[in-house]
Amino acid sequence: MERPVDDLTLEEAGGEHARLADEIRAHDERYYNKDAPTVSDADYDALRARLLAIEAKFPDLITPDSPSQRVGVAPTSGFAKVRHARPMLSLGNAFDDQDVTDFIDRVRRFLGLAADEAVDIVAEPKIDGLSCSLRYEGGTLVMAATRGDGQEGEDVTANVRTIGDIPHTLKGEGWPDILEVRGEIYMTKPDFLKLNEAQDAAGKPRYANPRNSAAGSLRQLDPAITRTRRLRFFAWGWGDVSAVPAERQSGMMGSIASWGFQVNEELKVCDTIDKVLEVYRRIGEIRASLPYDIDGVVYKVDRLDWQERLGMVSRAPRWAIAHKFAAEQAQTVVNGIDIQVGRTGALTPVAKLEPVTVGGVVVQNATLHNEDEIRRKDVRVGDTVIVQRAGDVIPQIVAVVLEKRPEDAAPYEFPMVCPVCGSHAEREEGEAVRRCTGGLICEAQRVERLRHFVSRDAFDIEGLGEKQIAAFWRDKRIDAPADIFRLAETEKTSLKRLEFTEGWGKTSAANLFAAIDARRTIGLDRFLYALGIRHIGQENARILARHYLSIGALLDAVKAAQDTESEAWRDLLNVDGIGPKVAKALLDFFGEDHNLAVVNDLLGEITVTDFEPPQSESPVAGKTLVFTGTLEKMSRDEAKARAQAMGAKVAGSVSKKTDLVIAGPGAGSKLAQAQSLGVEVIDEDAWIALAGL
Ligand code: IVH
Repeated sequence: MERPVDDLTLEEAGGEHARLADEIRAHDERYYNKDAPTVSDADYDALRARLLAIEAKFPDLITPDSPSQRVGVAPTSGFAKVRHARPMLSLGNAFDDQDVTDFIDRVRRFLGLAADEAVDIVAEPKIDGLSCSLRYEGGTLVMAATRGDGQEGEDVTANVRTIGDIPHTLKGEGWPDILEVRGEIYMTKPDFLKLNEAQDAAGKPRYANPRNSAAGSLRQLDPAITRTRRLRFFAWGWGDVSAVPAERQSGMMGSIASWGFQVNEELKVCDTIDKVLEVYRRIGEIRASLPYDIDGVVYKVDRLDWQERLGMVSRAPRWAIAHKFAAEQAQTVVNGIDIQVGRTGALTPVAKLEPVTVGGVVVQNATLHNEDEIRRKDVRVGDTVIVQRAGDVIPQIVAVVLEKRPEDAAPYEFPMVCPVCGSHAEREEGEAVRRCTGGLICEAQRVERLRHFVSRDAFDIEGLGEKQIAAFWRDKRIDAPADIFRLAETEKTSLKRLEFTEGWGKTSAANLFAAIDARRTIGLDRFLYALGIRHIGQENARILARHYLSIGALLDAVKAAQDTESEAWRDLLNVDGIGPKVAKALLDFFGEDHNLAVVNDLLGEITVTDFEPPQSESPVAGKTLVFTGTLEKMSRDEAKARAQAMGAKVAGSVSKKTDLVIAGPGAGSKLAQAQSLGVEVIDEDAWIALAGL
């Protein structure tokens, strides 16, 4: 008979607590890792109940790694946001062997390697799951966060503690005091099938694929549910670390494995491109027999000093790439062709398909890209077509099965007017896309712009996604971006109060207004991106923000640059990375009075903070540099990337605004120009010393 908890002394309770914790952990290990439990659920529950009773009486015994911290601590609402100590990046894609060769060539060029120097590459499967960052301090798991937008994710610690593959305390030795292990949470194919059977039995909707079910299982508010889903984890890298006790990716992954993580056993180090491609083919061959889904092979430069030098571009490392597997295909019938109007007025034909399952996902729409593409493939309504999808990519039509074409199927005629606003639709020279010329009078473009405005990399307003934007637009609650920030105000006098609208309530409406308020301050780069100007994606928005620093300076410069004889126009064209097309798009946008009105209205509601150059303590932060001549110790690309990472702007030619010219051998007119303007000139060695390389 168990003694009542009330009768235990602290010392006795401590002893029993430790024994129970060990026993529960051992059961968990057998249950999660070995799929071989040795106790009934009832007995297991009794052990937990006893542990909880002891902890209730003696709260000091609750440690972060107690089994009680694994289940049952349901957060009351949603998940808290957490900022990643180091951003969680994404990966560029390679689709064929040539893309892989190009990747390695780029690495070589960037690092300026000799032709005979080998570039060791780590190749490993790309797990089709969701990425997660696990933070350990002093060897104990203190935080688990989803990727989110790469900068900020969700705190899923309570749920992650229920995952058997994830140690609560690190094993082995030599782990750094602070260690973020990053990897993929996934569900095995057998567990996925079992889960869907259970969903069927409970009359609940099925999950589309293991990835979705892993995501759904991780995002349960009650960790006890997550626990029943048997999620697993493969480590593929790391984030913030107080020390990296290795010189190579492969070495560090070996250490991570020794600290108690699963590292994929297919991981191989290759010293030639042929070996890399051989691993890709081999993994492709065993793909179907693996118990988990993979969607490609990831290649990483093995040497960590090279990774460091290669750095990143557009949120993806230069030192890694994902080599995707060929897409899965299926046949279906085209029931119709719709034209969608995008944010920039682009008319995109979309095939409406007889629903078909491709790679585990039901596909009903496939993009036909543009007018030329429809003509080239000669897709007609009524045709049987081959559709394919690869990973997250929008499904595509590969070809028409001509033998199955109905006799009366007529060639598709692309509309010459916008199907939404009726404006003339035009094709610019050299462009494949036909665009509606209606601009902001076109409802479709307005609503698409609003969608873009609130999207994840733009204003990212929690609870205000595509669906809500479309509904608010329909209900005439919002017309322009600024209206979003006036919603709480207009709500007070609205005849149709949001809180009384279907799908909303007092709390959700209040939460939305709070989420909107939380975004009243935004960085210049995000703000520019959010405006949805043609050709101004995240990368160009960042380049412009880095150059102009404040919204005021940018607006003044753009106004002045409308005169193409002006200094401002030359300055804009001289920004490294901004070509005439982007410059013109920027001027076109701000040259329209109605756009300016929209922006000014918005600026009345929000604050755009100045761009903060990274590492502002660096000696070149905020300065404008020009590289000229040959650099011998690093490639031009590496030098530029370094300079930008230190907060400098890099320009293509020398002007009064240039602060520093770095001149290598063979420098010509730019050097002369610098000398005549009295701009400081240094050589490559001085640059390396300045950059602290
Ligand atoms: S390395 C710096 N390795 O793929 C980014 N990623 O498409 C390092 N993924 O966000 C990523 N398996 O969530 C890496 N073996 C693997 C992976 C992997 C799956 C995911 C990861 C990443 C996404 C990019």
